[in-house]
Amino acid sequence: MKKRNSVFIATSLDGFIADKNGKIDWLNDIPNPDKSDLGFNKFITKIDAIIMGRKTFETVCGFDIDWPYKIPVFVLSNSLKQILKDYKDKAYLVKGSIKEIINKINEKGYYNLYIDGGTTVQSFLKEDVIDDLIITTIPIILGEGVPLFNVLNDKLDFELISSEVYINQLVQSHYRRKRA
Ligand SMILES: NC(=O)c1ccc[n+]([C@@H]2O[C@H](COP(=O)([O-])OP(=O)(O)OC[C@H]3O[C@@H](n4cnc5c(N)ncnc54)[C@H](OP(=O)(O)O)[C@@H]3O)[C@@H](O)[C@H]2O)c1
Repeated sequence: MKKRNSVFIATSLDGFIADKNGKIDWLNDIPNPDKSDLGFNKFITKIDAIIMGRKTFETVCGFDIDWPYKIPVFVLSNSLKQILKDYKDKAYLVKGSIKEIINKINEKGYYNLYIDGGTTVQSFLKEDVIDDLIITTIPIILGEGVPLFNVLNDKLDFELISSEVYINQLVQSHYRRKRA
């Protein structure tokens, strides 16, 4: 079974995934009258499990909606001691080195992983274990906030697989890691 680690995330023009207060309301500022899912449902059908940073997990837990995922969510955290019982059978705590975490999740039979959260994506990129980056660009400049990218040990080459425009305003680019 082919293993893939993918990112599906929205950023400002200047590369932030949340504003300086950690807020993401600006993601929904562009009118979306037909409630386009911006390709998310098609993406998630190919995913077996999600690895999410603790801060993103807490954001999702705070949404005033039913739990949005039908697949297991593995929450990266060194500070959480346990997952609240409301999320039992939905979310599981993981810690350790990124490669160890991926191996353990792959051994459970989950091969196509969705990696979510800024610091989390950065840790995965640092280990060069991201295969696909699907980035939706929101036409706003925040100036500061939570960055998607950070310092790397080495440059990473990607190639453009496709690019799509949603609701006339958002460009979604799918990049795949080019490995020698
Ligand atoms: N624009 C979008 O599409 C989008 C998508 C996702 C999230 N967001 C937003 O982005 C913000 C969260 O991003 P973030 O970068 O602040 O945090 P994050 O990646 O969601 O979570 C960071 C936390 O995850 C844990 N973690 C990360 N890497 C780890 C590692 N290698 N080992 C162990 N634990 C690790 C740590 O938890 P502990 O501190 O508990 O150890 C760390 O504090 C939120 O505001 C969220 O709403 C936006």
